Amino acid sequence: MNHKEALKAPIFKTISEAAELLGAECYVIGGFVRDYLLQRGNAKDIDIVIVGSGVQLAKTVADRLEGKPKVTVFKNFGTAMIKGDDLEVEFVGARKESYDRNSRKPIVENGTLKDDQNRRDFTINALALSLAKNSFGDLIDPFAGLQDLENKCIRTPLEPGVTYSDDPLRMLRAIRFASQLKFTIQKESLAAIAKHKKRLKIVSKERIVDELHKILASPKPSIGLSLLHKTELLPYILPELIALEGIEEIEGQRHKDNFWHTLEVVDNIAETTENLWLRWAALLHDIGKAPTKKFHKKIGWTFHGHEFVGSKMVYRLFKRLRMPLNDKMKFVQKMVLMSSRPIVLSEDYVTDSAVRRLVFDAGEHVEDLMTLCEADITTKNPRKQRRYKNNFQRVRNKIVEVENRDHIRNFQPPISGAEIMETFDLKPSREIGVIKEAIKEAILEGTIPNEYAAAKEYMKEKGIALGLSPKK
Ligand code: CTP
Repeated sequence: MNHKEALKAPIFKTISEAAELLGAECYVIGGFVRDYLLQRGNAKDIDIVIVGSGVQLAKTVADRLEGKPKVTVFKNFGTAMIKGDDLEVEFVGARKESYDRNSRKPIVENGTLKDDQNRRDFTINALALSLAKNSFGDLIDPFAGLQDLENKCIRTPLEPGVTYSDDPLRMLRAIRFASQLKFTIQKESLAAIAKHKKRLKIVSKERIVDELHKILASPKPSIGLSLLHKTELLPYILPELIALEGIEEIEGQRHKDNFWHTLEVVDNIAETTENLWLRWAALLHDIGKAPTKKFHKKIGWTFHGHEFVGSKMVYRLFKRLRMPLNDKMKFVQKMVLMSSRPIVLSEDYVTDSAVRRLVFDAGEHVEDLMTLCEADITTKNPRKQRRYKNNFQRVRNKIVEVENRDHIRNFQPPISGAEIMETFDLKPSREIGVIKEAIKEAILEGTIPNEYAAAKEYMKEKGIALGLSPKK
């Protein structure tokens, strides 16, 4: 089969000519070919394999390109890369390769195209298109990868145990591709992943997190997450989630299975937002429920304070996975901490002051918080489902109304500390903080509007009540 039309970009012709000059066979392989055949849009990462030296080919190509771009050489791997404005081309020499069992470091030997295809992770990633002049665009598919693409199947070129123990990261890649592409992992492959799960220990946290991000970013993340559960990889990655699994019953009272509930919440939120960190918040919003679970004879199961405990757990989890402890982490913590606030609100009559407090505490993230809470509705009872949704809509409407009137978001105190000092002729002291806090409280409660004149009047009253007297 020929796929010349995949190779319309001028770079392929340049590579083809360079390879001819070197008298070597050369192919485009891997993700680019797979995504082209799946019509997944234009891949920007191009992997080139040459039966010869990847570094030499990269240099020859760069010489023939306008502006002679820089070639970055990775000596240890014998590979080279050229980065363009919107393209990244990686050149490798075809190799026979096996990995050191204890590190993921490859032991490399030169090989043929077939050797190189053998050592790749999946049949759908081993598809190659020829770049030779007389066979330009011919598909080389020794493992029926094309058929696997059609059947939506993830299969390894070699016996799965060999491919996965060569590089255990591939266990996660299999699951990630299944989630991204909605493919099924072949039975033997799945069994091999479960069997080799302990080998995940040699994979770096950064690589694990990369794959987790991709699973979470996929259209239906529960596909990947439930595969992580099924293959028992999840306890090595996110034990906090596994701790949520199961339903306990005491005296006829049960609680829901918070693990499977969480997966539904993540799928729900994936339908409404692409925000990766909000998806993380959905994944972690209930993790505090395992350590806080209690049974009380009178009221049944409770998870008192799980939001607070959960938000503390977020920090430890991010740290363990070497994820950034930055504003993204703080955002996830905040979402977990506040995850029950709108629910409590919506169950009651929604007062203006409660909404002002919600907007004040959530600040610029109030919409994200509402999105999370709406995704948290997983009841199968259509009547309840409708009621909850309507309640949240009421809260949303009220947020808009209160916002238009009171401008609480990104609240700035209408009276500064300096003005309080000036008014009462004070030195820096505790009273200033007390008055500022009282003004903020009065605004949130609705005692006074969020306006300068009203706040100034209130400041005077408060100061006098504290025994201060305004300057004449
Ligand atoms: N590969 C592999 N084993 C790995 C990683 C990569 O065999 N652990 C091979 C596959 O043939 C893959 C190619 O290297 O197609 C390029 O890898 P990479 O760029 O990481 O992935 P892509 O398949 O291009 O997919 P994506 O960009 O979605 O990650």
